[in-house]
Amino acid sequence: MMATQVSGGDRAVLSDLEGLVRETYTLWDEEWVGFSWRNYTYDHVQRVRALGRTIGAEEGADDHVLNFAGLLHDITKAYDGEIITDAQGNRVLDENGFWQNETLVPARENVVTEVYDRLALAGQLHNVSGARMADWLLSERGYAADFRDAVGAAIEAHLMADDSATVEGRSLYDADTIDANIGLPAFYRNIQIGMRRQDVTFAGRGESFPEWLRANLAEHLHEYLTDRVATWIDGKRRDFIPKMTTATGRRVAEERIARLSQILAELHRELDDLETALMHGGTAIVRYFMENRSNPALSEQLELLAEQWLRTHPPAVGTAPGAASFLVALRDEVEGRV
Ligand SMILES: [Fe+2]
Ligand SMILES: [Fe+2]
Repeated sequence: MMATQVSGGDRAVLSDLEGLVRETYTLWDEEWVGFSWRNYTYDHVQRVRALGRTIGAEEGADDHVLNFAGLLHDITKAYDGEIITDAQGNRVLDENGFWQNETLVPARENVVTEVYDRLALAGQLHNVSGARMADWLLSERGYAADFRDAVGAAIEAHLMADDSATVEGRSLYDADTIDANIGLPAFYRNIQIGMRRQDVTFAGRGESFPEWLRANLAEHLHEYLTDRVATWIDGKRRDFIPKMTTATGRRVAEERIARLSQILAELHRELDDLETALMHGGTAIVRYFMENRSNPALSEQLELLAEQWLRTHPPAVGTAPGAASFLVALRDEVEGRV
């Protein structure tokens, strides 16, 4: 497919659609659903869009298609509720092996929810309903059918890219899979999911996990950074590297696992002198993420942390001050540069 340039008109449309995507996720009031929280999805979308374009650039994909497909790939995701389980507690799968979700009804409406109802998209997987929604939104804005088809095909492929998937679809699939599972943004998500699980467990006993954590931070960091995270990375390496559908996706995934392993080894070393580590090591950042969890947006937290650590303490080359180098690596991955 011919690469197309982003014109001034496209830029205005993209920024208008960014506003619409962001607004759409705020129409639901549930904070945690399955493995994500309300402010997770928009950040995820922007990271996947950036990484998909990075992968696509090396794979010869059409950047214009990926730019729109990345932004719109999860436009109907907020309708996905909790995963349905049977009487034995097993997850119920559909004919393609996907977990089935309950449908969540939004608390408020906008044009996306109106069109969702009008096109009767309820009950479809969010890659299918997302492709239909993207088609409608782009048609409204005057985009030609062949462009809309290419965007829709990429969005449809983002959950399962088989041999028939386009190069844009495979780039998006790899970026989406990497973002949720492999590397530093996935590590951030793992922290949030782990903490959330503890909240629920402690609350079930009538106790407060944040209170426990304040009193037992060292013990918790030891347990988390020594065993649990290593097991988690091994599992992701085994389960997700083979799923990559492009050479670039595989390379990025392997690089991200290597970088994360190196950073975790560093965090592990920092535990020997926890007091210093909590002042300016990577552990200071991990602790910040563990303690600031009220519907967090990584993009906003990164901005605050960069203001604090990268302006007043610019990382000196070769000296590897933990907090700063951790943040630089995290920001690079968030922005899809690596
Ligand atoms: Fe998705
Ligand atoms: Fe996604």
